[in-house]
Amino acid sequence: MSEATPLAGKHLLLGLSGGIACYKVAELTRLLVKAGATVQVIMTEAAEAFITPVTLQALSNRPVYTSQWDARQDNNMAHINLGREADAMLIAPASADMIAKLAQGRADELLSLTALARPAQRCALLVAPAMNREMWAHPATQRNVAQLVADGAELLGPGTGDQACGEVGDGRMLEPQQLLDRVVAHFQPKLLAGRRVLITAGPTYEAIDPVRGITNRSSGKMGFAIARAAAEAGAQVTLVAGPVHLPTPQGVRRIDVQSARQMLDAVLAETATQDAFVATAAVADWRPADVAEHKIKKNAAPGQAAVPALALTENPDILATVAALPTPPLCVGFAAESQDLLKNARDKLARKRVPLIVANLGPATFGQDDNALLLVDARGQRELSRADKLTLARELVREIAQRLNTPVSPASAS
Ligand code: CTP
Repeated sequence: MSEATPLAGKHLLLGLSGGIACYKVAELTRLLVKAGATVQVIMTEAAEAFITPVTLQALSNRPVYTSQWDARQDNNMAHINLGREADAMLIAPASADMIAKLAQGRADELLSLTALARPAQRCALLVAPAMNREMWAHPATQRNVAQLVADGAELLGPGTGDQACGEVGDGRMLEPQQLLDRVVAHFQPKLLAGRRVLITAGPTYEAIDPVRGITNRSSGKMGFAIARAAAEAGAQVTLVAGPVHLPTPQGVRRIDVQSARQMLDAVLAETATQDAFVATAAVADWRPADVAEHKIKKNAAPGQAAVPALALTENPDILATVAALPTPPLCVGFAAESQDLLKNARDKLARKRVPLIVANLGPATFGQDDNALLLVDARGQRELSRADKLTLARELVREIAQRLNTPVSPASAS
């Protein structure tokens, strides 16, 4: 499975109930198809008031079903046949009325009928609510949603923000890209279910004065990809991020920091409860010994040097500090090198006393979307060949899950 077509081979039922968010489902359909899924659309009569079946047929490349009396099926049982073929059923938008019907097991039109008739063990129900915030907050809706989740449905959202009615609050349907990400996540094996994973990512920023600082070219992409992959695998993920411009992966708790010392404090506050710690951050090794209170001026005051000398002091080593705790989580270090990859990775493995180092050639990977990695442990090494960072992150998650499940005799990387 590549990142370009993560839903290749999957057949999805996409159900639309009535709501203004129907207009976003045109884009969602396009994204699902582009991701490799075959998409069979079902629409309620109310959905047809917002968007036409013609649009969704064109985007899904399949005729849309709107009625339980559709004679196109030989046995005239669309509600049975559609569910049997599907790997999952996504209802987006799910109106308050549709959620109420699903919670009660009512089946008086094709969409709710198909949801009820689908083989639930094999074909999960994913529900993306979309409604006015008062409707969402109403005890009846909350009761229905709780019942749906208790019955095994997966709730996608809702999001928060501006609503078509002019109000602001909870109840917006998630954006198409977010829904796509959630569908992709749904199909990932839950290798880290019940586990807690702490990740550092990005550069740190060490202030020289209020406007200048020392930092590096780390984009944070690898760490964010690992956070996403771990969350998709069912882990509870905490991501401690230096200054980067990346969106937080869904379901991930993010703590933003600037300096190495702030990163260390944030990490140490979390370590006690973690199963694994993955240090991808490019932590600045040194920081200015003194931070000037005001901007250092180019025109030096009389008696001062024209070019200021920058005295540096060493930053704490976050990974080594965590690895030296009495009962550390499984620690995974990264080594970004410009040469002698294996030798430097082995040195780091010993120096930081961690069970696994993930090595890569730093300057070749910073900011890029793909990478090649070398897993190095006490017994050997294993190469993860060049791929996009999310694919590599998923492989690393598999490796971490395997090591967490065999704590006494960790699997060799070789
Ligand atoms: N690391 C850390 N805290 C530091 C420095 C590094 O937690 N102060 C972690 C990184 O997140 C990474 C690993 O240690 O997982 C190796 O980082 P790297 O910068 O490659 O190693 P250094 O120890 O800084 O060694 P050098 O700069 O000499 O290569």
